Amino acid sequence: MFVTFEGIEGTGKSTQISLLREWLLAKGREVLTTREPGGSRLGGELRRILLSMESIDLTGQAELFLYLADRAQHVARIIRPALDEGKVVLSDRFADSTVVYQGYGRGLDPRLLHTFNDVAVSGLWPDLTILLDMDAEAGLRRALGRNLREGVQNTEGRFEAEDIDFHNRVREGYLAWAALHAERFRVVDASLSPEEVFAHIREHVEMFLEA
Ligand code: TYD
Repeated sequence: MFVTFEGIEGTGKSTQISLLREWLLAKGREVLTTREPGGSRLGGELRRILLSMESIDLTGQAELFLYLADRAQHVARIIRPALDEGKVVLSDRFADSTVVYQGYGRGLDPRLLHTFNDVAVSGLWPDLTILLDMDAEAGLRRALGRNLREGVQNTEGRFEAEDIDFHNRVREGYLAWAALHAERFRVVDASLSPEEVFAHIREHVEMFLEA
């Protein structure tokens, strides 16, 4: 089973992934948690480039192909082998992030991005995608608070530094894209407490496991 987590910054994806991981482990499932960008060894290198604000004057197109390269390697070397071993794979972001950030956010054509994604994932689409949804400004406030607490400055701040219009477009883009792919997307209100958010996620996963 392949589950991906999507959402704007500050929606608590990593907290929810840890909670789901613990829950699945307690049920006796083997679990691999991973993330994009950066889930493979190549990805670690690409992540550094993609998230740095330093002097690389990256074009929108170059950025897109780095995310896709990361994904192709991640699917082939990490995700597919784990699924073949019968593990549940939980990924913090996946192909939908490209459609939404590079498409709805940066203005590239979402349908074209979907086609590029299809090449990168070579047919491996998530069984379930949890979209953690909340107001963009509130999410950003949470993410900035986290960055300050963790002393994260330039290197991980690229998208946090975009203006609020960008984050609003991303949030709306996620909701529009989720509606187009309602068969695998489940939208969860991320403004609730972590326990409440997890209760919803658990219901969706349970329903999938029983189906
Ligand atoms: P990350 O450090 O994973 O933070 P978070 O998930 O907490 O926001 O940030 C990854 C950033 O990369 C995030 O702002 C979204 C962006 N991104 C894209 O623009 N396109 C993509 O295809 C992916 C995977 C991520």
